[in-house]
Amino acid sequence: MILVVDFGSQVAHLIARKIRELNVYSELIPYTASLDQIKAKNPCGIILSGGPASVYEKNAPILKKEILKAGIPVLGICYGHQLITKLLGGVVSKGKGEYGKTYISPLDFDGILQGIEEKEIVWMSHSDFVEKAPEDFKVTSHSENGYISSIEDSAKKIYSVQFHPEVYHTPKGKKILENFLNVTQCTRNWSLEEFINITIKNIQKKVGDKKVIMGVSGGVDSTVAAELIRRAIGHNLVGVFVNNGLLREGEFEEVCSFFNNSDYNFYSVDSTDYFLSRLENVIDPEKKRKIIGKAFIDIFDQKANELGEFDFLGQGTIYPDRIESAEPSSQASVIKSHHNVGGLPDKMNLTLIEPLRDLYKDEVRAVGKLLGIEEKLLNRHPFPGPGLAVRIIGKITTDRLRIVRESDYILTEELEKEQLYQSLWQSFTAFLDVKSVGVMGDARSYQYPIVIRCVQSTDAMTANSAPIPIEILKRIGSRIVNEVEGINRVFYDLTDKPPSTIEYE
Ligand code: XMP
Repeated sequence: MILVVDFGSQVAHLIARKIRELNVYSELIPYTASLDQIKAKNPCGIILSGGPASVYEKNAPILKKEILKAGIPVLGICYGHQLITKLLGGVVSKGKGEYGKTYISPLDFDGILQGIEEKEIVWMSHSDFVEKAPEDFKVTSHSENGYISSIEDSAKKIYSVQFHPEVYHTPKGKKILENFLNVTQCTRNWSLEEFINITIKNIQKKVGDKKVIMGVSGGVDSTVAAELIRRAIGHNLVGVFVNNGLLREGEFEEVCSFFNNSDYNFYSVDSTDYFLSRLENVIDPEKKRKIIGKAFIDIFDQKANELGEFDFLGQGTIYPDRIESAEPSSQASVIKSHHNVGGLPDKMNLTLIEPLRDLYKDEVRAVGKLLGIEEKLLNRHPFPGPGLAVRIIGKITTDRLRIVRESDYILTEELEKEQLYQSLWQSFTAFLDVKSVGVMGDARSYQYPIVIRCVQSTDAMTANSAPIPIEILKRIGSRIVNEVEGINRVFYDLTDKPPSTIEYE
């Protein structure tokens, strides 16, 4: 495997993802990791990510220097490049910086720069720069602005680049990462088929003949996770679907019918009142999430006690959930606590089984396909654990839930009719807790608005507001105003992520 040392860049995960696309398993590790912790993972190479700090800042994240001397090939990126320079005796200084598209010219076309052009486009984002490379290092390229853009000590297999090879805007970035893999002599044998085999075996080893209880929701993640666990332990997996009262139109019935018609040990529980009574008058988004997370676990514990002895809790947590919820090992800042990570109470009576914890969404879909799960289910848009609660700003009431359900149903129906649904990462409506004046018939109305949110994305870490044709939006808007009681205005959300998030809370 390749270990990516995380210095807090929001795109650090992209490095691991690109490496996996090159058929080598990769995962992130915090910069505080010791050499022993790194060696325990037996990596064939280490990549130091970028990050927002400056190497000269007080409390700047610093790598333990002995890691650079352990004989493991290293590639530093941006902050990682500057850190290698500082730790090994070179000079890093403050400069004007370079941002966005930049050209570099290699002095050398071998090593990690094999296959790149004399003037190659790269993506930069830095103000500090390497003024002087450490002794024994060779400068291998300069940027058009005269900065050193890459250095190497090929004898020690330490390489570093000022630009970001992991982002899409560096066209030859993947080639550069592949060149690094060639230097490391990693075996390129990571594949999703291999992942399925290893995961099933690991679950069997961990669970033995004990029992797993798992919350299923009919969503892609929990269904694929459940299928892996079911293949490993059969009916010792008990699937429980909780109706938290925050589901979309018809969802509870559809999901129950799916699991009842497959070979699952499956139970459903309607806990609508339990959830909604706890959420009464709660406005704060993080409070809502924590309440829902806690209520979920309460129900599971209760159901587990009813159904027999369980030692494990299965969950469909995927890699981006862990990054965005800033697990203790992650350097990223907390954006939202996703209920299946951040909301878990400290005292839990069950051990977690999370077979998808290292996968990205598209990898989860690909695993689902390999497991023979029907495409219609795999292509469903992601739906957050806290459900419609995070799509209702302000208090959650049954009337507001009705409004979101009915408008969401109309939106989905129209997008499917236009064959746009599949091209979107997510589409939904959200309720805003603010009233405005309108005129309906001949009478004044004073009612709430609905927002339509349609986004394109590949992994939900970033997203673009989708350019839905205006005539389609107008038709959807007019259907919503006419058919959903209590709505007199419809907005379209134009913001990307960042700066917005996809969901509303
Ligand atoms: P945001 O709103 O943070 O969402 O841009 C990113 C992706 O995650 C989904 N999401 C959640 N999924 N539990 C989940 O399982 C949650 O609490 C949660 N919050 C957001 C969201 O739908 C989007 O796909």
